[in-house]
Amino acid sequence: MTDALLDADGIARLRDALRGAQYTRTGVAGRIGEAAVAAARRRDLRPALRAAGTDDPLATLIRLFIGEQNQPATAVARALHPLPLAAAQAAGLVVPAPGGGIRAGLDLEPYGDGWWILADRPPAAPGPVRADHVLGVGGASATLVNATVRAPVRSALDLGTGCGVQALHLATHATRVTATDLSRRALRFAATAAALAGQEWELVQGDFAQPVAGRRYDLVVSNPPFVAGPPGPAAFTYRDSGRAGDRVGAELAAAAPGLLAEGGTMQYLANWLHVAGQPWQERVAAWFAGSGLCAWAIQREVSDPQSYVDLWLADVGEQPAGAGTGTGQRPSTRDTSRREAWLDWFDAQKVEAVGFGLVCLRRSEVADPVLRVEELRQPTDRLGDQIALWFERQDWLRAHRTDLLSQRYRTAPGLLLHQEATHGPDGWLVQQQRLQLSGGLRWNEPVDPLVLELVSGCDGSVPLAGQLAVLAAAHGVPEEELADAAVPSVAHLVERGFIAAAP
Ligand SMILES: C[S@@+](CC[C@H](N)C(=O)[O-])C[C@H]1O[C@@H](n2cnc3c(N)ncnc32)[C@H](O)[C@@H]1O
Repeated sequence: MTDALLDADGIARLRDALRGAQYTRTGVAGRIGEAAVAAARRRDLRPALRAAGTDDPLATLIRLFIGEQNQPATAVARALHPLPLAAAQAAGLVVPAPGGGIRAGLDLEPYGDGWWILADRPPAAPGPVRADHVLGVGGASATLVNATVRAPVRSALDLGTGCGVQALHLATHATRVTATDLSRRALRFAATAAALAGQEWELVQGDFAQPVAGRRYDLVVSNPPFVAGPPGPAAFTYRDSGRAGDRVGAELAAAAPGLLAEGGTMQYLANWLHVAGQPWQERVAAWFAGSGLCAWAIQREVSDPQSYVDLWLADVGEQPAGAGTGTGQRPSTRDTSRREAWLDWFDAQKVEAVGFGLVCLRRSEVADPVLRVEELRQPTDRLGDQIALWFERQDWLRAHRTDLLSQRYRTAPGLLLHQEATHGPDGWLVQQQRLQLSGGLRWNEPVDPLVLELVSGCDGSVPLAGQLAVLAAAHGVPEEELADAAVPSVAHLVERGFIAAAP
């Protein structure tokens, strides 16, 4: 079991102090406003400092932990009371500032509903973060939080828990939470977040699934160090896996069958290489071949190699943000060599781009697991709910594969049709028609005129076979021929949620 940074009494005292000062997500937003909270996340501290106030514990905590300002020792002692200042210093939460007073030793961010996240602060001086830097809640963390299926489960596992943000959320719908990390330092931060939240998780140190080998879970999530780089030891634990290229994504896929209980779901973030001469979908699909799992891998973004390398060098502070991308800032000589080695490796591997995505796997004992690798760029709130519905639709399609023709269908609520037409001597000539979902995954895709006619008739009253008979007669085509062409389209439309079986 991993120790938190403070003992149980210290945790209780710190929680009392933070609650008493209203240093909570709502308390801070109430004082400085949501816009200042968002600006501080982008490291523009000015609005937070302007609105923090000066002489109460909440002002001190905002200036100390969010505004990165040194504060008088007496004010910090008052803000942290009943936790003694010496105990906060011993835990590394605050440290004496070189110029006098006290500064934050760690990031302490109010998060969610009465939770706090501990993480390392960015280095005070320009230069890279420490090798075992513990990351706070970032964009990738939020992406996985939003994408996680939140159905109640008995057991959940967070691989590479870091500050513990995923595990905090898992504990809201899992009876038992286990979290692993390679870094002992990260596990201590996670243990502190759990204790402050009054949650109990099992924390185990080790390489991804290795410390929980032989155990199975209903839900597994991971925001791993997914950055695709040259082989070699991990330079920064939160970013690098020590595996070459995109191997970590493949390795997690290979571990999934052994980690998942029957019906269990695994979701993780991954980067994958787009290699010349190989469709990226093929490369990613190969990760799941023969696994027996249903798999849905979705690509959310694509980066060119230079922007990718610059992004991750800037992320660890090895290169100014935007260096090499037009800001005029030049990386140092040492940074240039790191950048060049990385880009040379990409060139040698014929890497043309890198995809950022999400992998969703489900273990269900079926003979023909579905495998989809596709783009889904549209932003989606509560993506996890949509992922659960996607798997439900796959189950429905599997159960009704042989009787799709006898089902009655209804269009999705708020389904939109976009038409593009050119105007000519004979009036408007429709060039393209697109269906768009106004909610959910907001798919927007072209539709063939005949399929559109079918969709238009989906009012839940007539089985598909009946709809096709009418269409076949109207167009003078054999019914069977039409059915052969239409059934795969109908399955696709059901899969994406444009139409669904009528109740
Ligand atoms: C990108 S951070 C994610 C942290 C957190 N789960 C989140 O969502 O923000 C990746 C985490 O994986 C951990 N890690 C790196 N290599 C690992 C390995 N081989 N096995 C387990 N954890 C590892 C790092 O220490 C780090 O805490």
